[in-house]
Amino acid sequence: MDTEPDYLLVRGMHSSIRLNLQHYLWKDGLGYLIHPSIPLPRPDSRIADLGTGTGIWLLDLASQLPATTQLYGFDIFPSQYPHAAHLPPNITLSVLDNLQPEPPKDLQGTFDIVHLRLWLGVVPNGDPIALLTHALKLLRRK
Ligand SMILES: C[S@@+](CC[C@H](N)C(=O)[O-])C[C@H]1O[C@@H](n2cnc3c(N)ncnc32)[C@H](O)[C@@H]1O
Repeated sequence: MDTEPDYLLVRGMHSSIRLNLQHYLWKDGLGYLIHPSIPLPRPDSRIADLGTGTGIWLLDLASQLPATTQLYGFDIFPSQYPHAAHLPPNITLSVLDNLQPEPPKDLQGTFDIVHLRLWLGVVPNGDPIALLTHALKLLRRK
């Protein structure tokens, strides 16, 4: 089992199982993956999941959306990512620090939906400004 000084939780098989189980509890409790007030993704939508963990939210979402949507997961540690062979072709998982207020230029303004979940306990000093700035910069300007 891996531990990192700045991460409250541990990583390993059990924590991946916990995250995946939690995903279905959240979905069951909330009744949706994407909040109903958000316009439904189009066939060419690009969707990002920040701090994606095991990528379970994207994997579940991919099963409900056309294969033409492009789904991107980002996490500072890729150790809980499924093997690339187990991902559908429209999911890309990569390493990115989402607490940097300035995301890479080539990603800025390119996403229709940016999803964040379970960041409580991860945001340093309880201050989400850097994370929210990063997320807003990823969103496409209408
Ligand atoms: C509690 S897990 C939640 C995983 C996923 N969002 C979910 O709901 O199943 C928090 C995740 O945030 C990631 N994380 C922590 N700091 C991060 C950072 N600076 N940038 C990107 N991801 C980060 C962790 O590696 C971990 O995978």
